[in-house]
Amino acid sequence: MSSINIAIDGPAGAGKSTIAKAASKKLGFIYVDTGALYRAVGVNALRRGIMPSDADKVEKSLSDVKVELKFVDGQQRVYLNGEDVSEEIRTPPASMAASDVSAIPAVRAFLFDLQRDIASKNNCLMDGRDIGTVVLPHAQIKIFLTASVEARAQRRYKELTEKGMTVDYNNVLEEMIQRDYNDSHREIAPLKPAEDSVILDTTELDLQQSIDAVLSLVEEKLGK
Ligand code: DC
Repeated sequence: MSSINIAIDGPAGAGKSTIAKAASKKLGFIYVDTGALYRAVGVNALRRGIMPSDADKVEKSLSDVKVELKFVDGQQRVYLNGEDVSEEIRTPPASMAASDVSAIPAVRAFLFDLQRDIASKNNCLMDGRDIGTVVLPHAQIKIFLTASVEARAQRRYKELTEKGMTVDYNNVLEEMIQRDYNDSHREIAPLKPAEDSVILDTTELDLQQSIDAVLSLVEEKLGK
């Protein structure tokens, strides 16, 4: 029996992970956050003193890097060479590093099989930037989740300050604009909605309304 795959793509801060996590729990699917994989590769570069935008050096660093996802009680943990880096990958420098390394073709190729393998073995809801367009072009459901850049920066700011980090809203907004630009203008697998995706704009929706909107799309398609 083949697995059911739901692809959720969209820009940084659109609420993909929170919404996808809640929806997958309700559906009994695993939730796969593919951004975490790019973040782990970015952290690996930072730790080794490699500029994340230095394609040659980052590519060479892949030869002895192992990135793994493990699912504990449905929760994803990310491992870099056997070490759990699930928290470290969430810092602002790791976000920028992830955006830089994700533009390197060798990095995308390196992470491609891992993502495909998980999707072929599990009913999953996978989120990222190129899931519906490149990684899972045959996903049964594709959703492109978006919101205005200000709404997304506001949400990210709240998330970081709630975690006790000291950040400036304007910096968060600037970084968001920069990442949007990087993610949608890179040559390889740029962020864009798949032709057969449903676009869901959450600017005016609260979290519960967004989750309900995703679940009703799934119900419509799968009768689930
Ligand atoms: O979703 P996120 O913010 O954790 O993603 C971190 C970076 O990784 C983001 O700037 C773009 C990149 N990314 C990607 O290129 N393709 C994916 N499927 C997921 C993330």
